Amino acid sequence: MKVTYYGHSCFLINLGEKSILFDPFISPNPLAANIDLNSIKTDYILISHGHEDHIADAITIAKKSNATVLSNYEIVSWIQNQGVKKAHPLNHGGKIKLEFGYVKFVNAVHSSVLPDGSYGGNPGGFIIKSDKNCFYYAGDTALTYDMKLIGELYKIDVAFLPIGDNFTMDIDDALICSNFIKCNKVIGMHYDTFKLIEINKKNAKKSFSNIGKSIDLLKIGETKTY
Ligand code: NI
Ligand code: MN
Repeated sequence: MKVTYYGHSCFLINLGEKSILFDPFISPNPLAANIDLNSIKTDYILISHGHEDHIADAITIAKKSNATVLSNYEIVSWIQNQGVKKAHPLNHGGKIKLEFGYVKFVNAVHSSVLPDGSYGGNPGGFIIKSDKNCFYYAGDTALTYDMKLIGELYKIDVAFLPIGDNFTMDIDDALICSNFIKCNKVIGMHYDTFKLIEINKKNAKKSFSNIGKSIDLLKIGETKTY
């Protein structure tokens, strides 16, 4: 699978024929000023929760790409009311079969109000399973024992984990999470965008390499194959 980083918690994943965009927050992010929103085309947009820093560009990109939005029931209803035609609601523990495999909505410990104050349902993460890959996109979350279940049920190749602290796990909790989910390859997200979530990238990489694991902190605009 091909992964392109658009800053904060936004990634475009190419799985052969189909592509998935996670949590688009590009136009309000000064660190992502080099990204042209119009250049982003995707088949699916997956939204972990309702906060502005995860949903800001979802409507624009969904309309432009004619993409299908997948999220919790409340966010999907809200986004349909904003004129997005293709959207599919999920709730925790449920999955939807798609061309490449399936997407499952899993627990996250966080909150989820929408930008206009509407109720955003409960926050989540996603397991994406195709015939070639299985990966976990955690969304915004604290470290939770629920992650152990993911390690027991799936063989996760790559995990997208928040590491910025303050609103989510920090690097040490992400390390414990990677043990819970039995995954050695992590891609960091939700760091450096704001003052409150600035990290020391060198130390972050060191804590993972110290125990024989790796964490990638992609440059904004960078594409890497996993
Ligand atoms: Ni959040
Ligand atoms: Mn966030």
